[in-house]
Amino acid sequence: VAIAVGVVGTGVMGADHIRTLVEAVPGAEVIAVADPDQARALKAAQAAGGARVHTEPRELIGSAAVNAVVIASPDETHEPLVLACLEAGKPVFCEKPLAATAAACLRVVDAEVARGRRLVQLGFMRRFDPGYQGMKRTLESGTIGRPLFLHCVHRNREAPPWFTSAMLFSDSAVHEIDLARWLLGRELTSATVHTPRSSSQAHPGLRDPRFIVLRNADDVIIDVETFVSARYGYDIRCELVGERGTVALPAPPSVTSWAAGAERREVPGDWRERFAGAYAAELRAWVAGTEAGEVGGPSAWDGYAAQVVAEACLEATVTGQTIPVSLPSPPPLYR
Ligand SMILES: NC(=O)c1ccc[n+]([C@@H]2O[C@H](COP(=O)([O-])OP(=O)(O)OC[C@H]3O[C@@H](n4cnc5c(N)ncnc54)[C@H](O)[C@@H]3O)[C@@H](O)[C@H]2O)c1
Repeated sequence: VAIAVGVVGTGVMGADHIRTLVEAVPGAEVIAVADPDQARALKAAQAAGGARVHTEPRELIGSAAVNAVVIASPDETHEPLVLACLEAGKPVFCEKPLAATAAACLRVVDAEVARGRRLVQLGFMRRFDPGYQGMKRTLESGTIGRPLFLHCVHRNREAPPWFTSAMLFSDSAVHEIDLARWLLGRELTSATVHTPRSSSQAHPGLRDPRFIVLRNADDVIIDVETFVSARYGYDIRCELVGERGTVALPAPPSVTSWAAGAERREVPGDWRERFAGAYAAELRAWVAGTEAGEVGGPSAWDGYAAQVVAEACLEATVTGQTIPVSLPSPPPLYR
């Protein structure tokens, strides 16, 4: 019996998750969609092979026909929608960030803890990427020795007009913040942000790029160049330096062409192309968790922890100081 999935928000990510669920996730069927933009919702419903269209997301969440919910609407809608799913006792896959602020993330954590069982999986898809998984295995094998530095680059072609300077931390670098916690298995302890002049290619009002320096409980330094108006493509790089060697994220596969005196490799246009395999793997894991009655993968707590660090980064831009971060230990549900 297939899990009947309802998808809330059918924009860029919602449409992509529907395509992935239809093409690459056995055991799931998209039976309902919700979006205030009717034209988008209709198109998404067709792509799902004739799903029911709701204008009101709460109606979809409450529908007896829907077993599990994917949330891909704007950040500020995540908290109330995830809380509604928890109240209905339905497994929910929520796009990152878990909520727009750390305080809101904590309210979601509290609601899940009160239910006593994990129902929320968060969309930190990079944990499912074979390249990052290979880096983690290499570190754990001991071949490169104990870690010293994690160097990260996060470049997007361009940011949407609604993207704010704060979202550089809460929406973009939040992926590297989560990776640093997951890959190195330690909490982050401080954040510093260096701000070069803004790129002339950034849209007015957006302070871009930024250079983030984090430290973790093992005194490993993590640096993240976050540059969302990089123009040439979507380019994600990562290298972990250990005491006896280093390990790097493999470049995405591309043909190489040689012509007109130059060697040429393609750069992905955006995250959907670059992490297609990871998006499919995270949704397969979520559907498997839903079938098993308890979801795994990145948790609401991971979403909260990442948002605390993203907020420390924002504070660091205001004061120019290194901001200490301290997280309480997670409730037993997340250990
Ligand atoms: N994991 C990733 O790599 C990744 C990448 C991009 C975006 N995201 C996240 O996905 C979410 C959606 O981003 P997007 O780029 O698809 O945005 P988008 O603007 O393309 O799509 C959002 C959709 O939600 C709809 N919407 C607005 N309010 C709603 C509501 N109350 N209920 C239901 N639908 C509503 C909009 O009409 C729109 O169709 C964001 O939270 C973003 O941070 C994650």
